[in-house]
Amino acid sequence: MSEEHKQIEELEGFKNLRIVDNFYQTSSFFPMPTCEIATLSENGLTNIGSYSLCFPYYIAGKDYYAMLLCCRNSSNTAQNILRNGKCAINFIPDKRKYFKEAVRLGFPGETTEEKMKDTIFTLVDGKRARENPNETYPKIVKEAFQVFECTWVRELDNAQDDKVQEEYLPPYHNFNGITSKFGAHFILKVDNILMKEKYYNSIINGVTSNGFPSVPVDYGYRDSKNFWYTKFKNPISEPIPENKGISLDSVKYAASRIDPEIKFTDEACMRFVKVPRVFLNTVLKGCVSWAKENNVTLITEKEVDIINDKRNKEKNKR
Ligand SMILES: Cc1cc2nc3c(=O)[nH]c(=O)nc-3n(C[C@H](O)[C@H](O)[C@H](O)COP(=O)(O)O)c2cc1C
Repeated sequence: MSEEHKQIEELEGFKNLRIVDNFYQTSSFFPMPTCEIATLSENGLTNIGSYSLCFPYYIAGKDYYAMLLCCRNSSNTAQNILRNGKCAINFIPDKRKYFKEAVRLGFPGETTEEKMKDTIFTLVDGKRARENPNETYPKIVKEAFQVFECTWVRELDNAQDDKVQEEYLPPYHNFNGITSKFGAHFILKVDNILMKEKYYNSIINGVTSNGFPSVPVDYGYRDSKNFWYTKFKNPISEPIPENKGISLDSVKYAASRIDPEIKFTDEACMRFVKVPRVFLNTVLKGCVSWAKENNVTLITEKEVDIINDKRNKEKNKR
């Protein structure tokens, strides 16, 4: 290798690694969740496949929230989603026997009947099944610490006509439905998030270090023999930088410029000094439009409480 080539390959302690198929597990160390995805087979049975490439996709600013799943298009999961669009993403806690079962349920080529007859997971009805007794939905895994009940948004990227086929030839979609010869991507609308009570309380009452579920971190299939994962450790917290807060004067200045008819007291402004500057105007504008709707002209701490309360309630409703 020439000297010049060596310098390009070795850069400040980094080496340039060739990027190959499945780069997230073959050319890097990428921490991932372990999801057991439940779908409905053609015979109406619940099929479970293991999936790690499953991430939030629409997180705000749209009419709905969504996840993205990257998956082999010949898998039971992909075929079932193409057929009926329903799935439940079950997040399993960190237990060796659950991960062993995830690896078993992640072995390609078995039919639903073959893989599900010996499963150690307990399958129960989810919220959708209870609310719509005349419809069939995939069951959910009782051992999960949280479950996202989802529906495929088949219209996105014009994927509504994609169906189960022996072989997929081009053209392919870009980001939803069949996306390559062997691949599929599914944008999944989150219908319900079901949470075990202990962690529900953590989210509602404020989280502490021991209020997190134990989540295994999966590093994928790495040496043609094993799936690798790390065991859970209680998380620790890192406070946001103190000196990044905004001064009371800058909040007062921003608040006075939103609308000449709506005023904020100093105490009310004090409540916004921790809001990151980039969000300050949006937050203040939110308060002003609430004030206008409710014929309020002076926003005091009391009104800030009412507005926060309303926002929390809306969040919980969603
Ligand atoms: C922990 C784990 C994570 C996996 N993640 C994915 C993934 O993100 N995408 C994928 O296509 N296959 C993934 N696999 C492989 C699938 O589980 C495998 O294709 C399996 O056959 C899917 O089951 P199904 O055919 O019942 O859907 C994973 C396997 C394991 C064990």
